[in-house]
Amino acid sequence: MQITFCCAATDAEPWLNELRAALPGATVSLWQSGAPAADYAIVWQPPQVFFDEQPQLKAAFNIGAGVDALLRLNIAPTTQLIRLDDAGMGAQMAEYVCHALIRHYRDFDADDTDQHAGIWQQREVLPRSEMPVGIMGLGVLGQRVAKAVAQFDFPVNGWSRTAKVVPGVRCFSGADCFHDFLAASRVLVSVLPATPATRDLINRDTLQRLQPGGYLINVARGSQLVEEDLLALMESGHMAGAALDVFRTEPLPKDHPFWMHPKIHITPHSAALTIRSESIAQIASKLAALHSGKPVAGLVDRQRGY
Ligand code: NAP
Ligand code: GLV
Repeated sequence: MQITFCCAATDAEPWLNELRAALPGATVSLWQSGAPAADYAIVWQPPQVFFDEQPQLKAAFNIGAGVDALLRLNIAPTTQLIRLDDAGMGAQMAEYVCHALIRHYRDFDADDTDQHAGIWQQREVLPRSEMPVGIMGLGVLGQRVAKAVAQFDFPVNGWSRTAKVVPGVRCFSGADCFHDFLAASRVLVSVLPATPATRDLINRDTLQRLQPGGYLINVARGSQLVEEDLLALMESGHMAGAALDVFRTEPLPKDHPFWMHPKIHITPHSAALTIRSESIAQIASKLAALHSGKPVAGLVDRQRGY
């Protein structure tokens, strides 16, 4: 079995070594233009020429959860696209969202400011019933986040394309229920994939429908947020702030107003990083399943866009 590896901005050597150890029956090589035809690929943001030269691939394993970059390319319909499901990202996403939510809810930033000013001051805490959290996307990562938030006794709403039942979560589904979901939420968390349907979804109208003093946590993709609408609603006081991990342009341009905004926390698209060992273990087990004709989790539906 020939496996080709083509991952932008990734140190290939440790991946190649660990893949070779995990797949002793396979030949694993770093792709370069003109490389021989492979059976399978392991990719992250590959260039179009990669798929142009490898139309025979049976499957391409994306070493991330989001496949938006892959779906912008022309890929032979016979190549199955398979994404990571969880592979260690669920726990990271849960800790990121809980951290951002609790920092905001408990106003820990104000405690930091007080510390540096030498001020000893306690603050009142709102009842949790006044901080309902709405999670958009109840897939592999969204459900993990929802369960973690529910552990802290916040009311949790969830919204997905198709109906779901998640213990401890009030579930809404489809476009018809979107406004009800927003009206029931004060904190909005996005764990949605980037698709044509989710582009610009977090806009002025969406944010205005949140309960006053809204807070946004975007750990999904920057294309979902109309950034100037968020800034305007923070100016008006409707939105209390945001924790943003993803942006329309990444890296975030040096002169972007988010950098210095007092109510915005930013991180460099690192809410849930790919963990090499867990990803390789998952890919190895999916390859074995593919070989024995068993179903594989994380198959991308190109029509749906995720
Ligand atoms: P997933 O398992 O495919 O879940 C996607 C969820 O979104 C599903 O519940 C799906 O609904 C819902 N959804 C999709 N389109 C929708 C729409 N138009 N309206 C309502 N709901 C919709 O994906 P995942 O593994 O949880 O990952 C989610 C995303 O997180 C990735 O696509 C990626 O963009 C992002 N991500 C970011 C980082 C980071 O570090 N910032 C790391 C990893 C992933 P159904 O269940 O009904 O299909
Ligand atoms: C990271 O953003 C991913 O999609 O895995």
